[in-house]
Amino acid sequence: MKPVRAILIGAGQRGAEAYAPYALKHPNELKFIAVAEPDEERRRKFANVHAIPEKYCFTTWEEIMEQPQLAEAAIITTQDWLHTRPAIAAMERGYHVLLEKPMATSLEECQQLIEVSERNQRQLHICHVLRYTQHARKMREIVQSGVLGEIIDVDHRENVSFWHMAHSYVRGNWRNRHQSSPMILAKCCHDLDILPWILGQKPILLSSCGELTHFRSDKAPINTPERCVDGCPIERECPYSAIHIYIEMQPFWHSYRETCTNFFNKAILDAWLKNPALIRNFSRIFPFLRQITDYKGWPLTVLTQDPSPDKIREALRNGPYGRCVYHCDNNVVDHQVVSMQFQKGTTVTLTMHGHSHVEHRSTRIEGTRGRLMGVLGNGGGWITVEEHRSRKKLCVDTSPPTGEGHGGGDSQLMAEFVAQVRAGGYSDAIKEAAREALFSHYLAFTAEQARIEKKVITINPEEIYSQ
Ligand SMILES: NC(=O)c1ccc[n+]([C@@H]2O[C@H](COP(=O)([O-])OP(=O)(O)OC[C@H]3O[C@@H](n4cnc5c(N)ncnc54)[C@H](O)[C@@H]3O)[C@@H](O)[C@H]2O)c1
Repeated sequence: MKPVRAILIGAGQRGAEAYAPYALKHPNELKFIAVAEPDEERRRKFANVHAIPEKYCFTTWEEIMEQPQLAEAAIITTQDWLHTRPAIAAMERGYHVLLEKPMATSLEECQQLIEVSERNQRQLHICHVLRYTQHARKMREIVQSGVLGEIIDVDHRENVSFWHMAHSYVRGNWRNRHQSSPMILAKCCHDLDILPWILGQKPILLSSCGELTHFRSDKAPINTPERCVDGCPIERECPYSAIHIYIEMQPFWHSYRETCTNFFNKAILDAWLKNPALIRNFSRIFPFLRQITDYKGWPLTVLTQDPSPDKIREALRNGPYGRCVYHCDNNVVDHQVVSMQFQKGTTVTLTMHGHSHVEHRSTRIEGTRGRLMGVLGNGGGWITVEEHRSRKKLCVDTSPPTGEGHGGGDSQLMAEFVAQVRAGGYSDAIKEAAREALFSHYLAFTAEQARIEKKVITINPEEIYSQ
């Protein structure tokens, strides 16, 4: 069978590193035949890895869209504010589209994307990777099996770790809500997508509160310089030290260890965290240890294309990721709670905060017959179900194979996207999934409005589904 052909628009962290490796692992399923990327180093690297000839390498999405349709699929992984125009152009040209979340940064643009997809009968898939994880699918299956009885209350938390918050929402690309998106959209459109999907009902009432409490100049300890590497007096004790986060990498591996369910991997990470020099020595004999000792993936690749120690130090001296977290130009919240009432009376709170000790999502679902608790982090995940009367307890390990991003969601999303493009057509299920993505974005915009205006907002799901 011939592979599905695709073009990539935006060969950045998500496009080149999270989704495109699927084509290398499954060459019979997917082949990238063209790329549009303004950054020359990224464009070259992508073209080399995927064997794309020079004439199919373009600098912008506009250039690639000036060509006749080159492939069946377009994967669009540009930054938040650059989703709508390339996605509309691609669908108008005839491509089926895989578009990164958020679909767009305004509700009007999200609606416009749906309209273009439906009018042209071109598939529009949104990268709501959580939906594709074994973890979320298992939670849905359990809730819908009825074993928990009637669902009364849900407490779902997006526990963004202190170091991920500092990386993405204080120093990084999503720090400023006017330049990218409000954090509830950037970080939680996934959660707002899976909650109605798991529960099989939609919210009808919503309120929200939250603010930026900590990462502000008035909270800066005295005498802190603009950069961690500029002789900061508290560098050795500050959890947000860029040296600690990007050179020592201890918080990253600690988060990984805390949610890892594989005994062997956990033991190795323990040893690495306690004695890095020992593991470094062992890595000469056991090359698999170099996955840790010579780690070169996210978040390091955001700082530099070649995350060697020298290049990282240079990035900390000159780039945005070396800045003191109290002296940045950030304005997104660092904690926000969204409270909702769903159609069948279920109350749901979604808590997002950027001060978690460990990176993970946690879910607690209380029903009339039992409760479910779930944890999903970058090391792995698990779910427990306890029945009230029998006190029977079921534990399910939902960890993806080691190394798979977003709980295995990234690669499963690609597998299903490729299968849908291969099948072609524009089924009701595809249309419905795109509308569900629109609804999750609508909830995020509404939550932000409720937070800013301090309001309780009534939601009419039918309005969004029928527009
Ligand atoms: N699904 C998820 O869970 C998830 C996780 C993280 C990020 N994201 C989203 O993925 C998107 C990309 O994030 P990223 O971290 O990969 O960003 P990135 O900055 O690493 O990648 C974006 C790329 O687009 C390129 N680009 C800029 N202008 C362009 C143009 N005119 N034509 C073509 N390419 C252009 C940039 O040079 C860059 O390489 C964002 O919208 C982000 O919110 C999604």
